[in-house]
Parts: sequence; structure tokens; C-alpha cells
Amino acid sequence: MVGNTISTKLIQLGHFVKMGSRTVHNQKAVEWANKNGKNASEGTFSNAAEFGEIIFNCTSGLNSIAALKSAGSENLKNKILIDIANPLDFSKGMPATLGICNNDSLGEQIQKIFPETKVVKTLNTMNCSLQVNPSMIPGDHDTFLSGNDEAAKNKVKEILTDWFGWKSVIDLGDIKTARGTEMLLPIWLSLMTKFGNPDFNFRIVRKNQQ
Ligand SMILES: NC(=O)c1ccc[n+]([C@@H]2O[C@H](COP(=O)([O-])OP(=O)(O)OC[C@H]3O[C@@H](n4cnc5c(N)ncnc54)[C@H](OP(=O)(O)O)[C@@H]3O)[C@@H](O)[C@H]2O)c1
Repeated sequence: MVGNTISTKLIQLGHFVKMGSRTVHNQKAVEWANKNGKNASEGTFSNAAEFGEIIFNCTSGLNSIAALKSAGSENLKNKILIDIANPLDFSKGMPATLGICNNDSLGEQIQKIFPETKVVKTLNTMNCSLQVNPSMIPGDHDTFLSGNDEAAKNKVKEILTDWFGWKSVIDLGDIKTARGTEMLLPIWLSLMTKFGNPDFNFRIVRKNQQ
């Protein structure tokens, strides 16, 4: 769902996109590529990681490390990896729990395992249709950034604002701050159950705006 939404937006913006999956010619990836013209292609996680200048991790969170290992550390080396995944565990039904939390996060684990990749966590605190179309919700609302590499975060901020249309991007600090945004998921899931739809977001309100 997220991979399809982000990839389609990137194609609309004129980029070349390769959708990765565990197997080459994955049915959903082929359907997406066929629908999205000559700049769209598909392959394995490894093919996609080798192809991309920038990588979006849109894999199911508790399988992200396996997916990224199959993408290959050489293919991810020196690249920005935009991590949108949440380590949600649905194995015991709903409400889902977090498989990684408190003193660790998926973003940190990815950064630790791939030290030469610039991991930036963002967009994981909202539904995917909103990730690429923030104006679908009226008024001010926020997305967050976490990552160790300042230049990588600046580039991702540019992608969020110039490509996707975000007006408020709050840089929380290093990749450890991904703990907080991943741990927003339980309240996000409660709100979705309460509202009956995912069309909402978090807004941070302060007394004194700088
Ligand atoms: N849905 C949303 O709106 C939303 C919003 C914010 C964040 N997120 C996060 O974004 C991520 C993607 O969510 P989603 O709903 O689009 O899809 P999803 O069903 O959570 O993930 C699908 C992806 O995970 C891969 N995958 C599944 N099992 C795997 C395994 N055992 N080993 C390796 N890779 C595996 C799939 O590979 P194949 O293609 O090979 O099947 C596919 O690429 C999740 O971490 C989710 O928490 C979702």
C-alpha cells in the first residue's frame, strides 16, 4: 500500500522508480509497473536498492531488516534510506503491539545494521494517502524527521516540502528519536478505530512559535 502510493507519486513527479519485492515479477509490482508507464519498473529488493539513488523502506516493520538484508548492504551504501515502516506486530490480533519499543526502534536497528546508509525516519505517523498529499486535511499538521546525518535530513526535508507538499516538518533529532514516532502508533490505531477512517493527523501546538 505505502510502496504503491509513494511510487505512484514519484512517477507523477517525473522520477524513475523500481518497486522491489521478495520475488521478481511479484504480481502487485508488475501490475503497478504496467499501469505507471515507462519510468516504472519492478524487481527484487536487491534490484531496487541497486537502482535507486534514494531508497524508501515501505516493508512490513517486523520484516524490514530481512527485506533490507536481501536488498544488500553494498546496494544501500552511502545512500539515503527513508524509513516509513512501523514495527507493528499483528500476530496476536488487534490491537497490534510494537515488536520493538521503549529503548530501541526499528529506525535505530536499521541504522545500526547498515552503518554506511543514511537512515531518515519520517512519514510513519500517518496514513499513506496523506503522506503524499498533506493538503487533503485542512489546516496545519505535522510530520517528523529523525536521523543522524544532517545533510540527509535536509534532503529528505526538501523531498517532503517540495515534492510532497508538507508545510510543517519537525526535526526531532538523531535516529534515537524514532522511538517516539514509532511509539505514536498505538494512539494512531486507537484514533483510526474511533474515527472509522485514517484521514487525520497529529498537530503540535505551542505557546511560543519561533
Ligand atoms: N499503510 C499505511 O498507510 C502506512 C502508513 C504509515 C506507515 N506504514 C508502514 O509502512 C510499511 C508498509 O505498510 P503497507 O501497509 O504498505 O504494507 P505491509 O503489508 O505492511 O508490507 C508489505 C511489504 O513488506 C514486505 N514483506 C512482507 N513480509 C515480508 C517478509 N517476511 N520478508 C521480507 N519482506 C516482507 C512485502 O514484500 P513482498 O512485496 O515481497 O510481499 C512488501 O514489500 C509498514 O511497516 C507499515 O507499518 C503504513
